Amino acid sequence: MTTVTVMELLRDSTSDMHNSAEANEFQHKLSGAKVDKDELGRYLQQLYLIHTGVSSLIEAQADNPAIKHVVREYHHDQTSIVNDLEYLGQKPELAVPLKATAELIASMNDTAQNETAALLGYLYVLEGSTNGAKFLAKALRKGLDLPEAGASYFDRYGEQQRERWNNFKQAMNEVEFSEAERAKLVSTATETFQTFGKIGDELLQK
Ligand code: HEM
Repeated sequence: MTTVTVMELLRDSTSDMHNSAEANEFQHKLSGAKVDKDELGRYLQQLYLIHTGVSSLIEAQADNPAIKHVVREYHHDQTSIVNDLEYLGQKPELAVPLKATAELIASMNDTAQNETAALLGYLYVLEGSTNGAKFLAKALRKGLDLPEAGASYFDRYGEQQRERWNNFKQAMNEVEFSEAERAKLVSTATETFQTFGKIGDELLQK
């Protein structure tokens, strides 16, 4: 019998959604550096709300064994996104959630109450996105003529990105999630991918 690790399960169950995320019109604009600084700032505001939302819930549930095993201090570090927002003239504390962001945050609150370990499904998508986002940071810096700040969030781990992603995968695979938890992880990860699509659509409508 082959046992599918939780990270294989997450990757395989969301690979179609990853393809859709890559093909999303807003993500295309972003990776082609066809956004202006205002659009970039408005996108980063939503990411800031998602990161601080999941981070505060994870901190409040720090005693959960799965969370304790997987989450590291740097998962809570919002320095790069705050610096980017400030450079782009946006105050992080004034960020207002779009509909899609508000729905995801409501779902995170529900997960924290009822299926705490599945908070790691939201984190999975945010951490996994550091793989492609490195290139995004480069494209945005060049296209929008940004200094260090402005798109630093997308390359927030710098040289440590690969090591941190491998550590995340290993730690997740070391946790003995129940079948119900595995299913819920897939559903919170799915929801996160879908939210990125919806945020892009909402931003394009403005
Ligand atoms: C232009 C857009 C994108 C490109 C080019 C891209 C590229 C990549 C690449 C090359 C990897 C594989 C890294 C590896 O395993 O060596 C990856 C993984 C991943 N990306 Fe993206 N990505 C993009 C957009 C996104 C977005 C918008 C999200 C989240 C909403 C995302 C979430 C993830 C996740 C979760 C993984 C990990 C998959 C796994 O479990 O192995 N990506 N991406």
